[in-house]
Amino acid sequence: MKTLRQLSVGQVAKRSGVAVSALHFYETKGLIKSWRNAGNQRRYPREVLRRVAVIKVAQRLGVPLADIANAFQGLPEARTPTAADWNKISDIWRAQLDQRINGLIKLRDQLDGCIGCGCLSLKVCPLRNPEDKLAEQGTGARLLSGS
Ligand code: FES
Repeated sequence: MKTLRQLSVGQVAKRSGVAVSALHFYETKGLIKSWRNAGNQRRYPREVLRRVAVIKVAQRLGVPLADIANAFQGLPEARTPTAADWNKISDIWRAQLDQRINGLIKLRDQLDGCIGCGCLSLKVCPLRNPEDKLAEQGTGARLLSGS
């Protein structure tokens, strides 16, 4: 059996550039795991560094912690992502990032229409009425009512 090198929480923090408090937080969220040695000190397998790297990249991409946890849990035996695993995960996150970017572009374009307007009208402003709720109530009847 392969013997893993063990790292203290301080060593993980130093090598990953992540605060000890953040590592503890990741652990409470099930993203990383440690065990206690005979002296009751936390120890992490060396591969935790790769796991933390994935977490940090995911956070930069705006991936929620729950989605990171799901991605990790979807791996066989909840292993640390291999290069192939990372390819699959990053592909999914890229598509999600594209969706968010497209949503933000749409919002920005709608905001363009508001600049210099100031009406903030439920009838007219796409940012006040993003789902076009009035349209669901009929084809323009409310718009013509003057209310
Ligand atoms: S403020 Fe007038 S359209 Fe948004």
